[in-house]
Amino acid sequence: MRLLGYMTALFMVCASTPLAIAQSGMNAAIDDPYVPRLADIMSIVQLRHMKLWFAGSSPNWELAAYELRRLKASLVDAASLYPGIPATSVTTMAAPVQSIAEAIEAKDSQKFATAFGDLTVACNACHQSIGRSFIVMRVPTASPFSDQVFPPQPK
Ligand code: HEC
Repeated sequence: MRLLGYMTALFMVCASTPLAIAQSGMNAAIDDPYVPRLADIMSIVQLRHMKLWFAGSSPNWELAAYELRRLKASLVDAASLYPGIPATSVTTMAAPVQSIAEAIEAKDSQKFATAFGDLTVACNACHQSIGRSFIVMRVPTASPFSDQVFPPQPK
């Protein structure tokens, strides 16, 4: 519950102060600020959505936790840089993200799979609400990442 509250607050803060955050992200090169396009952030979200699935279903909980953090960060970037995205569509992501975090913590594969399905429904809900109903996500069926090992390896 604590994480959910935190995420919701984070999403709300980011959604309401887009300019300040966009500017604070611009300190890498003053003359040549780079703000990623929303579709580019979403392509990274897509990549992490897939990696999260293959990590969690391997199961490699450590990698899954990492990918979930990265996925959250990309969603926060999207909300902060693109205030035109309805805040409610972003906050609806918070509940499934929290459930996935709990499943990872509990190493619960069943809960992970259910929560991942809910997350994917929430991706599509935003796409539908924003005139992009032709972008339809689903639970991935085969990994395109032949250069990355998903099952946990001996340390
Ligand atoms: C709050 C709204 C919102 C949420 C949540 C959201 N998206 Fe998107 N997504 C968009 C918008 C808006 C676009 C279209 C961007 C554009 O056309 O410039 C988009 C585009 C995309 C694209 C197309 C990118 C491309 O260049 O082909 C993919 C893939 C995508 N989203 C994946 C996801 C996944 C996976 C999730 C869930 C983990 C997700 N999105 C959650 C708003 C959202």
